[in-house]
Amino acid sequence: MATGDAQIQRAVAILAGARRVGVLSGAGISAESKIPTFRDAMEGLWKSFDPQELATPEAFARNPERVTRWYDFRRRMCLDARPNPGHLALAELERLMNGCGGWVTILTQNVDGLHQRAGSRDVVELHGSIMTWRCCETGEPFHDLPEAFEQYPPRTPAGTMLRPNVVWFGEALPEEAIDRACEVAASCEVFLTVGTSSVVYPAAGFTHLAREHGATTIEINPTETPASDLVDLSIRAKSGEALPMIVAGVRKVLE
Ligand code: OAD
Repeated sequence: MATGDAQIQRAVAILAGARRVGVLSGAGISAESKIPTFRDAMEGLWKSFDPQELATPEAFARNPERVTRWYDFRRRMCLDARPNPGHLALAELERLMNGCGGWVTILTQNVDGLHQRAGSRDVVELHGSIMTWRCCETGEPFHDLPEAFEQYPPRTPAGTMLRPNVVWFGEALPEEAIDRACEVAASCEVFLTVGTSSVVYPAAGFTHLAREHGATTIEINPTETPASDLVDLSIRAKSGEALPMIVAGVRKVLE
């Protein structure tokens, strides 16, 4: 693997010496689960879809059928996807840290639910979840959804429209998610940013916040991002390759 072993070993030493770990994850951690990222030149989702046409309240108001069809297509793609070694490694890191009285909290920008399916329990969904849809009138969440909707836009038993419980452009992030994320960034000893282009705020800002509070910051991404010069250690690698090696090293030190 291209990543220097020295970088991996440095990440192992940093994490093995910590008990409070924050993680910011982005679409890149799910790329190896075959879920397209948003901005990657080769395969980015936005290459074939215009987000302004699909991921805004105005787009939904203009054409609820088109928007809900697109999101249901993405929801079923996520259901068919499997957590990859990167997700599984973060779940293992949480178990290791919990075992020595510590914690790992994942602040994810992803809506695919793969961290939870990998076994991570402390996950903050900054941009909501495509696995839950909510009533447009009452906000009531619906978690138990059919494999495929019978109609688009889907409707509640009362006949009101359902929308995906994700954050659209122009919408605020869930307040409790923001509060939790600020708490984690301000109190963690190590902040890992994985598989994100670090261009969308407020999510990208949590790396800055963690650093301002004295956390050691590590980035894992095959390409450079605006965070690469900010962090203490920037590892040019796929998360599905680097994370299992790092967590295996941490396990050796802690067990
Ligand atoms: P992007 O598509 O912007 O960035 C994906 C990042 O993952 C890029 O920096 C890639 O280099 C990196 N990447 C690709 N494959 C990888 C791999 N195998 N391992 C590690 N990294 C890899 O996705 P996000 O940064 O998540 O917001 O985008 C942030 C937000 O922009 C999304 O949550 C979405 C979008 O608008 C909303 O939907 C509100």
